[in-house]
Amino acid sequence: MDNHHYKLAVAGTGYVGLVAGVCFAEMGHQVTCVDIDEQKVAQMRQGISPIYEAGLQQLMQKNYDEGRIQYTTDYQSAYKDADAIFIGVGTPEKPDGSANLTHIATVARQIAESIENDCLVVVKSTVPVGTNDKVEQFIQDFLVRDVKVEVASNPEFLAQGSAVHDTLYAERIIIGTESEWARALLTSIYEPFDLPIVSVNRRSAEMIKYASNDFLALKISYMNDIANLCELVGADISDVARGMSYDPRIGSKFLNAGIGFGGSCFPKDTKALAYLAGQNGYELRTVRAAIDVNDAQKTMLYKKASERHITLNGLKIAVLGLTFKPGTDDLREAASLVNVPLLLEQGANVVAYDPVGMDNFAKLYPAGAHGNGTMTYASSSKEALDGANVCFIFTEWDEFRALSPAIFTEKMWTPLLYDGRNLFDIADMRKAGVEYHSIGRQP
Ligand code: UGA
Repeated sequence: MDNHHYKLAVAGTGYVGLVAGVCFAEMGHQVTCVDIDEQKVAQMRQGISPIYEAGLQQLMQKNYDEGRIQYTTDYQSAYKDADAIFIGVGTPEKPDGSANLTHIATVARQIAESIENDCLVVVKSTVPVGTNDKVEQFIQDFLVRDVKVEVASNPEFLAQGSAVHDTLYAERIIIGTESEWARALLTSIYEPFDLPIVSVNRRSAEMIKYASNDFLALKISYMNDIANLCELVGADISDVARGMSYDPRIGSKFLNAGIGFGGSCFPKDTKALAYLAGQNGYELRTVRAAIDVNDAQKTMLYKKASERHITLNGLKIAVLGLTFKPGTDDLREAASLVNVPLLLEQGANVVAYDPVGMDNFAKLYPAGAHGNGTMTYASSSKEALDGANVCFIFTEWDEFRALSPAIFTEKMWTPLLYDGRNLFDIADMRKAGVEYHSIGRQP
């Protein structure tokens, strides 16, 4: 293709792969996205995004209409003459905390069997340090034709809910390569984005991804740890965080204490790095601590509520927020997935509301009886609060933040609120007559 426009293939159309593919197309490259799921491919061909992500659907449609992006299950034709193939398939966590690399291996093998030209294979999926050396060896072992193939590491830093924006306006692009050919090609592919590029070797690139995510997870767990102490000694974590944030060495982001971090990345990546350390005979104590604090944090409010009542059995409990954060329908490692089963086990009648997460939650916990408890879904926060004895907030959706404190007294049987996201002003809640428990602040 011309100087800066390349023929690219992307393996996997989850968050990482699909968003990367669409953004590469937006930058003028010719992109083919490959997925094994025929139904998903058919859906994407109609311009329908399989994931809920701001701005994605419009960009999919635009680049499809303008002929720069295609979707297929036929990996062979997508890979055979690609200049570069980006791998964005999942690396789910195994029970021991290590990463499951079977999807990567499957794609690597398909690439080895398909490519007819020299090709750079770029791994975007988060993989343990050293994996890309093995991916390169694996492809070379199975290579059918006499072509040059190299593997580069190009970790992804997008967050769910702002994935398109994070990709188009990333703070940095990390490129991990082992040859000048690979470095120059990948740099050239990213040139139209006009973003800072940090070029390092492959293992450092792999480590940058884990070290960055685990640092952010550590920051959250640190704030949660301090928040718990604040409660005991009469301080307020929101004020403490505000005071800390003026120091640029600390920064103002990711200082929000809450019900713990969830999602598909921090829980998995903290465990994976701790596991990698263990495999190398080293104990990564800071990251272990971040994991332990987070595990305890998720049930912090449940424990408080259990101590406050003789029993939760038969109580109507409103749950506002099911997703692991706002702006997504993703439930992975969400606080709701730990707390709702505990509430049901205790025989509570849970009435849940979430602006987009209810369908996914209902697949796991359909409306109806669950042991001694029951599960119901409401069509609004107000409906969920109606007649409730207790309310838990697990996700900081703006529409919850916008609720007036008076709603809790008007709608609930007893205005008793456990807010896992510190959405409200304590004084406002007191004035409205709500018994308000939050994280790291005085009740
Ligand atoms: C995270 C990182 O932010 C991205 O940079 C990274 O690329 C991504 O993982 C990944 O590895 O793919 P994500 O999991 O989508 O992105 O979501 P975040 O916005 O980081 O939130 C993660 C969790 O931390 C959420 O449960 C959120 O509620 C919690 N959180 C975040 C806090 O409890 N406090 C904070 O101050 C910030």
